[in-house]
Amino acid sequence: MQIIKTITDIREVIKTWQAAGETVAFVPTMGNLHAGHLQLVRRAKENANRVVVSIFVNPTQFGVGEDFEAYPRTELEDQEKLKKEGADLLFLPSVIDVYSSEANTNITVAGLSEAYCGAFRPGHFSGVATVVCKLFNIVQPNVALFGRKDFQQLTIIKMMVRDLNIPVEIIGVDTVRDPSGLAMSSRNGYLTEDEKKVASMIYYTLGIAREAILAGNENFADIEKKAMQSLSQIGFQPDYFSVCRASDLKKATIEDVNLVLLVAAKLGKTRLIDNLCFSR
Ligand code: PAF
Repeated sequence: MQIIKTITDIREVIKTWQAAGETVAFVPTMGNLHAGHLQLVRRAKENANRVVVSIFVNPTQFGVGEDFEAYPRTELEDQEKLKKEGADLLFLPSVIDVYSSEANTNITVAGLSEAYCGAFRPGHFSGVATVVCKLFNIVQPNVALFGRKDFQQLTIIKMMVRDLNIPVEIIGVDTVRDPSGLAMSSRNGYLTEDEKKVASMIYYTLGIAREAILAGNENFADIEKKAMQSLSQIGFQPDYFSVCRASDLKKATIEDVNLVLLVAAKLGKTRLIDNLCFSR
């Protein structure tokens, strides 16, 4: 696996691959790789000749008082994992290389970026969209893979690619869960042992809401309210629980068939997000 740290160098390698007619699959990450990321790499291998993974803890997607400094950085372990999975290239750019001091351009997918997680993390999705757009311009992949666990992020990236005519296919990959049902996330490492036992209840609560809808309950507002109440009773501080239309994350109406339940809740100091997609 090649390890490349500059934009100039990665452009050279990608150019050689493209000249040889090879296709590129791209997995952008912020490192601290877990089974969910490795699943993305495996799926990437199925979709192109070459797999590029980036590790870049992107400062612009962290708000004031968030965990940018504390975000787990495990570069050597990550490199080993990626080698084992057979990634071709690991891109490790520096903040200065990615963001020049003169940079004045930001990407915002208006509307959806301010809803759900965006309402609690102002500017977060602009930071994500901007860095992903920049990484797409640097890597020029044929396909890029993102976890469905960050469903709002995935939807925003699909909208950005559509709106800006970026020639890349976006593939969403199913969430990997631990045996308790807890979705894999780099932030799970912040949970105490006691919190870990409770954390899987977020997935259980999603399941209860899905069962209510599949049983014919169309009072989505009431389902959301009950889910928020049960999360609070269990010990979470829920930010939101929303029944949404899967295609664009607008609030679901009784006409909608393909739904996604979106949830974000704090457990102690850790903010967890999860979702459940289904059709009725
Ligand atoms: O999901 C993540 O890890 C990040 O938001 C991403 C897509 C790598 C952009 O920094």
